[in-house]
Amino acid sequence: MAQKIGILTGGGDCPGLNAAIRAIVRKGIKDYRMKFFGIEEGWAGLLHAKAIPLDRDGVSGLLMRGGTILGSTPSQIFHEDVQLEKLMKGYKRLQLDSLIVIGGDSTLGVASRMFAAGLNIVGVPKTIDNDIMGTERTIGFSTAVQVAVEAIDRVHTTAESHHRVMIVEVMGRHAGWIAVMSGLAAGADLVLIPEKPFDMDEVCEIIKKRHKFRNFTIVVVAEGAHPQGGKTIKLKGQKDAFGYDTLGGISYWLKVEIEKRTGFDARASVLGHIQRGGTPSHEDRILATRFGVKAVELVKNKEFGYMVGLQGDEIVKVPLNMAIKDRKVPDYWYDIAKTFFG
Ligand code: F6P
Repeated sequence: MAQKIGILTGGGDCPGLNAAIRAIVRKGIKDYRMKFFGIEEGWAGLLHAKAIPLDRDGVSGLLMRGGTILGSTPSQIFHEDVQLEKLMKGYKRLQLDSLIVIGGDSTLGVASRMFAAGLNIVGVPKTIDNDIMGTERTIGFSTAVQVAVEAIDRVHTTAESHHRVMIVEVMGRHAGWIAVMSGLAAGADLVLIPEKPFDMDEVCEIIKKRHKFRNFTIVVVAEGAHPQGGKTIKLKGQKDAFGYDTLGGISYWLKVEIEKRTGFDARASVLGHIQRGGTPSHEDRILATRFGVKAVELVKNKEFGYMVGLQGDEIVKVPLNMAIKDRKVPDYWYDIAKTFFG
């Protein structure tokens, strides 16, 4: 009898999720005659055993489509034991032989617990933040960097015209991967990331020095960056559905401080969810496709409790419980960005 496999997307969406769904279904049907079911609305759908059959026609045209056709829900509450038991029931009600979970650290954390409880789970890492252990790249990151680079390039010309300090705020809650990579690619004069709490005096010194020979500065800041001894800036009063603070606003704080301390005119632009929407880059399409194919191989070989990952040029399997740890920007990457400060 054909194996029955569920596919679930959880947490924040990103470009490339649909490409992964397509790859899983195409590979599994063509090579192993597997049967696929898309769980609707992430974990919430599994809770209520809500799934739709996915065949080759159902995944047609998905390679270049952003978002997720399956929908998604945040994963935080599903870490609770009582929810976990209900999720296990949903899996059984759907009579799945295995489940491929595409998600970030929180979603994969739930997946890891479900595997520990005895279910057949394989993980696929996605998040524009690129901060999952065991993989050098996550689905969505390349597109987010591409969007940020284009935005910074645009800000560059207006910064030059008006002799301003332009601050571009990109996503990155705990890790500054998007800030470092987009800053490098777009020629940022300063990059501020959560891993390196900054000294405001130093920031202003760099800007003042630069303005002696150039009359504009581009600062790229990750939303989770904060001053030394200071806290991450949260949007006042805004929380998500599960009570987690919505980050954002560090660029406005920087604008005010920089103007006050340097006397230069400054402006802030927050890119926000623009980085998560729209069509995936070619790199994300290819990565998602390779991850999807490998995930099916793991299912076929009954290698459960693993997540697929990119290491060097190879797609490998890594224990699912590794995904829970944050992958920070290492010094050797930040040092390259620092070479171009000022
Ligand atoms: O984890 C991905 C991410 O895009 C973070 O960079 C950001 O802080 C968060 O999701 C935003 O989530 P939401 O869509 O709930 O606002």
